[in-house]
Amino acid sequence: MFKTALVKSASTPSSGTLPLDLFAAIDDLKRELNAVILAHYYQEPDIQDIADYIGDSLQLARAAANTNADVIVVAGVHFMAETAKILNPDKLVLLPDINAGCSLADSCPPEQFAQFKAAHPQHFVISYINCSAEIKAMSDIICTSSNAVKIVQQIPPEQPIIFAPDRNLGRYVMEQTGRDMLLWQGSCIVHETFSEKRIVQLKISHPQAETIAHPECEESVLRHANYIGSTAALLKYCQEVATQEFIVATEPGIIHQMQKAAPHKRFIPAPAENNCNCNECPFMRLNTLEKLYLAMKHRTPEITMSEDTRLAALRPIQRMLEMSV
Ligand code: 13P
Ligand code: SF4
Repeated sequence: MFKTALVKSASTPSSGTLPLDLFAAIDDLKRELNAVILAHYYQEPDIQDIADYIGDSLQLARAAANTNADVIVVAGVHFMAETAKILNPDKLVLLPDINAGCSLADSCPPEQFAQFKAAHPQHFVISYINCSAEIKAMSDIICTSSNAVKIVQQIPPEQPIIFAPDRNLGRYVMEQTGRDMLLWQGSCIVHETFSEKRIVQLKISHPQAETIAHPECEESVLRHANYIGSTAALLKYCQEVATQEFIVATEPGIIHQMQKAAPHKRFIPAPAENNCNCNECPFMRLNTLEKLYLAMKHRTPEITMSEDTRLAALRPIQRMLEMSV
């Protein structure tokens, strides 16, 4: 199993001499390799700006499923690159920093999850895409934050469900669908860092602002939200409504696109308890423009997995793509 480590990647090739214009050098490599760069909204602004495609987890999975490129560079975290590889076994899938993991994915170790699943043999397993390929391989269907409600609603009401790994998204989906589900108790360190107290203080000092939140946040934060949705849904929402000010309770990388789409509006990142930067995903931020360039230049770090795991993980991902059109 891939395990997240918050250290500088030893496997990222050493920089040597970097080109002065990394944007131009990456563009050249894109043409040379017939590569596509897929970036998540939580990536640093420069990476979002050089990407061919920016999206939430579902949009990135769709883009990976539809690409004609020979090389897929995933500017995101490990489970996103794994998803691209599961869908594209014959393509080279690169992740700029191989240590760009995910605390939520790590909160569901495959051995323990296998025991949990075995203890509930009648349950249908729905796993959030933020999990390892091994967990996907043990699942009946995958979901993302943008289609989780829709997918759960399509499961016959008498069918018991295990929902893994995010307890916060799971609880939110239970509330939205009225379905009882057995929740794996995993969570994301970034989305559990937001301070209810400081959000309420911000709401008082910015009475015109709407609070928008990702469903990975805890209930104590979600209860203050005017709108809850995936990163793509939050981006769409703040463009559609007339509101001019938003308190944004998700990783602040998304604010780059929000500000581009609505330059006259104001976006305030929801704060953590103390004045740390813990609302930034430390794993997403391991990727840099330099590492992206080096990964393309040296064609490493590459995502690999056993064919058995890939095939077992492919089936629930394909089901998700069919059920969320
Ligand atoms: P999205 O599916 O909204 O992109 O969320 C991914 C993620 O990692 C949230 O922490
Ligand atoms: Fe994982 Fe949380 Fe980072 Fe998303 S924000 S990639 S769930 S650690």
